[in-house]
Amino acid sequence: MGQCIAIVSGKGGTGKTSFTAGVGEALALSGRRVLCLDCDVGLRNLDLALGLSDRALMDFSDVAQGRCSLDSAVVEHPQLPGLFLLTAPVRTRGRPVTETQMADLLAEVRKRYDFCLLDAPAGLGTGFLLATAAADRAVVVTTTDPSSLRDAQHTVMELDSFGNGKLHLVVNRVRKKLLRSMHATIDDAIDKAGLPLIGVVPEDDTLLLSLNQGIPLLLASSQSPAAWAYRNIAARLQGGRVPLLRIK
Ligand SMILES: Nc1ncnc2c1ncn2[C@@H]1O[C@H](COP(=O)(O)OP(=O)(O)OP(=O)(O)O)[C@@H](O)[C@H]1O
Ligand SMILES: [Mg+2]
Repeated sequence: MGQCIAIVSGKGGTGKTSFTAGVGEALALSGRRVLCLDCDVGLRNLDLALGLSDRALMDFSDVAQGRCSLDSAVVEHPQLPGLFLLTAPVRTRGRPVTETQMADLLAEVRKRYDFCLLDAPAGLGTGFLLATAAADRAVVVTTTDPSSLRDAQHTVMELDSFGNGKLHLVVNRVRKKLLRSMHATIDDAIDKAGLPLIGVVPEDDTLLLSLNQGIPLLLASSQSPAAWAYRNIAARLQGGRVPLLRIK
């Protein structure tokens, strides 16, 4: 039975979509069958982050509302076998997808994939609720920015239905120069939020380069610091014990 993991944040632009793509790629490269599900209705961009720009014709609302099958809506990555995308609608047609419809969709997803990463939109609105309502675990992505850390804490309060060990924190865009002064803030965030840290991702320009080239990060720059961070997190999500990345 597969696991569905919601990737969320309070503040926008913290790196949820990049994280979903990077960790999804890493899981697929380690032999897992992975579905990346874009929950950002209207502002979808997970296809770009995966280098699958505009390949999908059908979206998760088509599957959840019975207009097509799951298999016919997902797109498999041509360079990364085992990595699939189910995209979000550009706009809502008719009734929005309900949490029950999403739960039914995820029940089917769990039978066919080892992992499903749900890329939530920023904030605590409908997309957040859809992504988290039926997920098994959640990852809160924050940057080192104090307002992002505070929003992450608010987000955690909304996620109290996830039990022990089901809620994780990722600190993204960590810079070596800031690390010493950051330690207190990160520790503070972990303490206040009561969340175990599942990884830190360094600030890394290769992310933007691979995005511009339309090539998945883990293929374009497999030795880049962010690629290592995503691989380590993918290993931890599978139960592996990997030390935290040293930020150079
Ligand atoms: N570790 C990183 N190093 C450098 N740039 C990064 C890193 N993580 C994300 N970015 C950049 O930050 C921007 C926002 O990232 P991304 O789209 O993944 O965030 P998001 O949380 O999904 O945003 P939104 O809330 O709008 O959905 C992108 O330009 C991305 O390339
Ligand atoms: Mg996003």
